[in-house]
Amino acid sequence: MSTKKPMNPQTPSLIIHSESESKTVDIGRAIGELITSGTLIGLNGTLGAGKTRLTQGIGLSLGIEPGQIVSPTFTICVPHEGRIPFLHLDAYRIQTPEEVDELGLDEMLENGVSLIVEWVDLIKTLLPEIDVEIQIDAPTHDSRIFSFFAKTESGGRLVSALDEKNLDRR
Ligand SMILES: Nc1ncnc2c1ncn2[C@@H]1O[C@H](COP(=O)(O)OP(=O)(O)OP(=O)(O)O)[C@@H](O)[C@H]1O
Ligand SMILES: [Mg+2]
Repeated sequence: MSTKKPMNPQTPSLIIHSESESKTVDIGRAIGELITSGTLIGLNGTLGAGKTRLTQGIGLSLGIEPGQIVSPTFTICVPHEGRIPFLHLDAYRIQTPEEVDELGLDEMLENGVSLIVEWVDLIKTLLPEIDVEIQIDAPTHDSRIFSFFAKTESGGRLVSALDEKNLDRR
């Protein structure tokens, strides 16, 4: 069941369960339908939690082939041209704050790029304001729990609209 609680930094505004990889991609797709220019989404969760699978789903609704969105080995930041420009950033291998500064993320967001950051907690203090944080937990091999934390007004609207899609009932 999908649960909704008041906005609070510690309390997720929405929790969605996934029992398969394809459900995770569907959740990503639903998020992608709600992304607009300048949206910043941060993902947290251990290795193999499903951050990239979710991002592939987001990319699908922006018109980006899933094969184009991968867990980067050396590249930390990959731009995509979808319905709106979309930047996929993986913070796992970032070593210094300068590496983040050099990306010019503020300017990109102002210019209408939407941004998804895997391992966002590692570079949170260096980023512009995050709209929605998503914590992914993996209680079993195939199940995942997505907890959504809306951090801005527009993030709150995104999470409410996502809630209305009733993904847990599909
Ligand atoms: N319900 C599920 N949702 C998503 N992935 C699942 C699910 N069940 C199993 N998996 C598996 O979990 C893995 C998720 O991989 P993915 O690359 O998305 O993780 P990640 O969080 O990006 O990891 P990394 O931090 O290494 O980049 C895949 O191997 C996928 O098959
Ligand atoms: Mg990944």
